[in-house]
Amino acid sequence: MSRDAVINVGLMGLGVVGGGVASALLREPSLVAARAGCPVRLRKVLVRDVSRPRDVELPPGVLTADAEDILGDPEIDILVEVMGGSDPAADYFRRAILSGKHVVTANKEVMAKEGAELMALARANRVSLLFEASVGGGIPIVGCLMNELAANGVSSIRTIINGTTNYILTRMAHQRTAFADALAEAQGLGYAEADPTNDVEGIDAAYKLTVLATLAYGCRFRPEDVFRQGISGLEPQDFRYAQEFGYSIKSLAIADTGGGGVQLRVYPALVPSENMLANVNGVYNAVEVDGDLCGRVLFHGMGAGRGPTTSAVLGDLAETARLVRDNAAPGGLRELSDGLGVRSIDELQTRYYIRLIVADRAGVLAQIAKALGDCDISIASVLQKDADVETQSAEIVIMTHPARESSVQRALLDIGGLPPVRRVGNMIRIEE
Ligand code: NAP
Ligand code: HSE
Repeated sequence: MSRDAVINVGLMGLGVVGGGVASALLREPSLVAARAGCPVRLRKVLVRDVSRPRDVELPPGVLTADAEDILGDPEIDILVEVMGGSDPAADYFRRAILSGKHVVTANKEVMAKEGAELMALARANRVSLLFEASVGGGIPIVGCLMNELAANGVSSIRTIINGTTNYILTRMAHQRTAFADALAEAQGLGYAEADPTNDVEGIDAAYKLTVLATLAYGCRFRPEDVFRQGISGLEPQDFRYAQEFGYSIKSLAIADTGGGGVQLRVYPALVPSENMLANVNGVYNAVEVDGDLCGRVLFHGMGAGRGPTTSAVLGDLAETARLVRDNAAPGGLRELSDGLGVRSIDELQTRYYIRLIVADRAGVLAQIAKALGDCDISIASVLQKDADVETQSAEIVIMTHPARESSVQRALLDIGGLPPVRRVGNMIRIEE
């Protein structure tokens, strides 16, 4: 391509992220152009409904509801996809790649479900597929795992990787905000997915962990490989008791090696208050990579929202545009293997917080202690809380010593069946 050529972009999606990308390209074209080394022009923008009012004003003729206006346009060099969901995005990517277009995306779902095939297709067609914005918003973690940290054997990745849940948990813990109100705030701020169940139930974090683990271990992992538990089962008293024991509740996404495989897990966990992850609040995310050469490397930054995500998309766009301008070969896409197995959550060995609602009478604790002992689970401390005179019930909170997940699940079934136990309030894993 000649040095004074213009690079044309087809943008799919004009919501929270797409609006930020379009506005930056229209209002400050020199920002991306300076890094790309040539002008980058927004040629078409795809939405579902062209009649909806938009917070960014596009030049006439740019907005379309027909994907063919982008996929079938040979003048478009780069497809920037910020619609979300794997269907139809994956098909659009395939068509774009096969026709020689480069792709930039913020879509963790499509990269988690079909990233391995799409990366192979891009490699075979010598086009670039970049997805920095798909994980961690403005945190540059994807590129680092593909490039700067690629020489490391990674033993673990410990993360807070969903801005919406971290925002909700922070509001619930610090301001005692109700779950539904905190979620509504996160939606208003543009953090949540189109279907916020994806955030709240850990689905979005599982997609992101799949992407990170695939890059870190050079193996193909799938979202189904991730053990997943959301935050909707947490109750206000869990936050109070956690605080009394010196812990914060955080939704963690963790990949670690051991026993010949990788264990991938997303769940709310008790984290000691002085731990770095316990102090990542609001929409902030954190990613800690433990590599054999680099040691522990920590990334911290805003994990969702228009600004941080636009930053990541534009960075990828500038890099791709430079590549198009220079007619250069894309880099960074490592071939994946099927090498490492996935370790079951049953093998997890950690400490546990168990909250039970029981009949407030003599001998109950002894029965519970026996059920735990029978499953080889040792108690570290017990608190009896909030006796309710009317229902003659009490809340018991037990912190265990390290135990095996499968034993704890068995013990909870046994305990749930004891006559004085009215309900297992919650079980939360502890990550020291
Ligand atoms: P959003 O606000 O819901 O916007 C989605 C946009 O895509 C809308 O403009 C919508 O069109 C368009 N769209 C959706 N499906 C379409 C289809 N089938 N055909 C044509 N247009 C379609 O979503 P967002 O928050 O910007 O997120 C977009 C992507 O970025 C997702 O993959 C998300 O996971 C990812 N992401 C988001 C954030 C964040 O903080 N929001 C951060 C990182 C990554 P209409 O406007 O006509 O409905
Ligand atoms: N819904 C996602 C989150 C957007 O809250 O983290 C960023 O990927």
